[in-house]
Amino acid sequence: MKQGRIVKVSGPLVIAEGMADAKMYDVVRVSEKRLIGEIIELRGDRASIQVYEDTAGLGPGEPVFSTGQPLSVELAPGLIESIFDGIQRPLQAIRERVGPRIAKGIEVAPLDRDKKWKFQPTVKVGDYVRPGDILGKVKETSLVEHRIMVPPGVEGRISRIHEGEATITDDIATLETDGGEKNIQMLQKWPVRQGRPYAEKLPPNIPMITGQRVIDTFFPVAKGGTAAVPGPFGSGKTVVQHQLAKWADAEIIVYVGCGERGNEMTDVLREFPELKDPHTGEPLMKRTVLIANTSDMPVAAREASIYTGITIAEYFRDMGYSVAMMADSTSRWAEALREMSGRLEEMPGEEGYPAYLSSRLAEFYERAGRVINLGSDGREGALTVVGAVSPPGGDFSEPVTQATLRIVKVFWGLDAQLAYRRHFPAINWLLSYSLYTDRLDEWISGEAGSDWKELRTEAMGLLQEESELEEIVRLVGVDALSIKDRFVLEAAKSVREDYLHQNAFHDVDTYASLKKQYRMLRLIIEYYRQGMRALQADAELSEVINLPVRERISRAKYIPETDIHTFDDIEAELRDQMGALISKGGLEYA
Ligand SMILES: Nc1ncnc2c1ncn2[C@@H]1O[C@H](COP(=O)(O)OP(=O)(O)O)[C@@H](O)[C@H]1O
Ligand SMILES: [Mg+2]
Repeated sequence: MKQGRIVKVSGPLVIAEGMADAKMYDVVRVSEKRLIGEIIELRGDRASIQVYEDTAGLGPGEPVFSTGQPLSVELAPGLIESIFDGIQRPLQAIRERVGPRIAKGIEVAPLDRDKKWKFQPTVKVGDYVRPGDILGKVKETSLVEHRIMVPPGVEGRISRIHEGEATITDDIATLETDGGEKNIQMLQKWPVRQGRPYAEKLPPNIPMITGQRVIDTFFPVAKGGTAAVPGPFGSGKTVVQHQLAKWADAEIIVYVGCGERGNEMTDVLREFPELKDPHTGEPLMKRTVLIANTSDMPVAAREASIYTGITIAEYFRDMGYSVAMMADSTSRWAEALREMSGRLEEMPGEEGYPAYLSSRLAEFYERAGRVINLGSDGREGALTVVGAVSPPGGDFSEPVTQATLRIVKVFWGLDAQLAYRRHFPAINWLLSYSLYTDRLDEWISGEAGSDWKELRTEAMGLLQEESELEEIVRLVGVDALSIKDRFVLEAAKSVREDYLHQNAFHDVDTYASLKKQYRMLRLIIEYYRQGMRALQADAELSEVINLPVRERISRAKYIPETDIHTFDDIEAELRDQMGALISKGGLEYA
């Protein structure tokens, strides 16, 4: 093993000389303690090393060992249900062995080497296989079938295939390749800073339904799409991310937690494993990989964590799954980047962030997508990425939020005012957007109802009108408004309170199918349209506002999915009551 010498230590940054044989992004071991680091800058024989462990006590003269390998993750059965740190050290396994604090330079393999998995082959001797072809399956957890694939760059004819119990390092297949015999194990490694290959990228025209009304109705995200949730502390970023993890129609969840505050990661470690998969009642962990950067870990490990996360996510995408990755929050990642950049004495950009902040973020979100995978079965996979952003003071003009918004296609802007008024999810409907809406309309209308787009447009129109009218009220008082304007305010309030407001902690309200979203929206808009008719027929505003059926409209969110037919009753009641007002004035309920 080649070795160099430390010349300088600056927090998580170590400068070493005598590193001419090393490459950019090689993993190195620093000092006899063998701390894990990665080369992030190389000039001549002088390497700048980002160290993923506490560097206290290190000094000039100590050795640095180059491994010649890039920072990589291990990919094999055992990923699901695991909790890793930013460089894939298995936190549970380490805790069991050495207690709550990670000892320096500790060598614990990310995945269990002794555990036996039942490998069920899906190919036979004589088959010719190429990269991405599935060799067999392992039941990894009660919710996940792990598909063992031919690794990228390998192809040949199968001369031997294993069946039954095997560890991840046992040979499970032998291939006759151009270069001779090659044994294949379940375990693959992949460098985290390099996206895993696929055959073809597909357009993002299938929605990832989340069951969250403000998202699916107004700001939907596509499978394979990218979204950002910026918001100040306490505005609901984590709750949104947890709701997506639970309810989004993704099969695999990769959750990267970079704590905003010291105790917050302990919350993730405590709370996440308690979440239930709503479809099966099993722990959500049975289809989740959790990556946690606790606050006692050095800043550099946060920088690596989103790459570790997305590489694992890509690997499950490659199997043909729909994967959702959440990063909470990417601001902590950006701060790690800033700290390292500062220590490297690079020219600082805006607010001290390096000039390459944008390109790094772009490279990361680029790895999302709906794709046709490698492998001759032409299977599809999708990787959707949702990043929380925590701008200091909730100011969206700061560099990380701005750089993120230039890249992602969906922006769910959380609003401190809404959160303060306990309007949750506190997604600001006037500020937020989705660039997928038009592409997804056809699919969603097919599932919801043919007039979906009209209803949505009308509801958003009401909200926009509301904000304009409120401005007028602020200037000249409510008396300046016409009866119809006042009714617009009432209808907009119904859209906000009866529709957009959704309690994540209510058994029924926590999730609404597209069908239910459609029926709720139709009910509210129908009330508005017919209410306008009643006013035209000279009904009193108070009569329209106090119509008895409104009580049922406001409680419609609590109608269970199995009782959707109840909406027929409420619509009939609306027709009766509003119809009476309309016909009194000589018009007809249309
Ligand atoms: N959809 C929601 N339904 C009900 N309460 C919510 C919802 N979203 C957020 N909250 C409330 O707001 C609090 C703060 O949310 P959290 O996600 O922890 O904020 P952040 O991660 O932005 O700091 C939660 O503990 C909860 O009480
Ligand atoms: Mg949070």
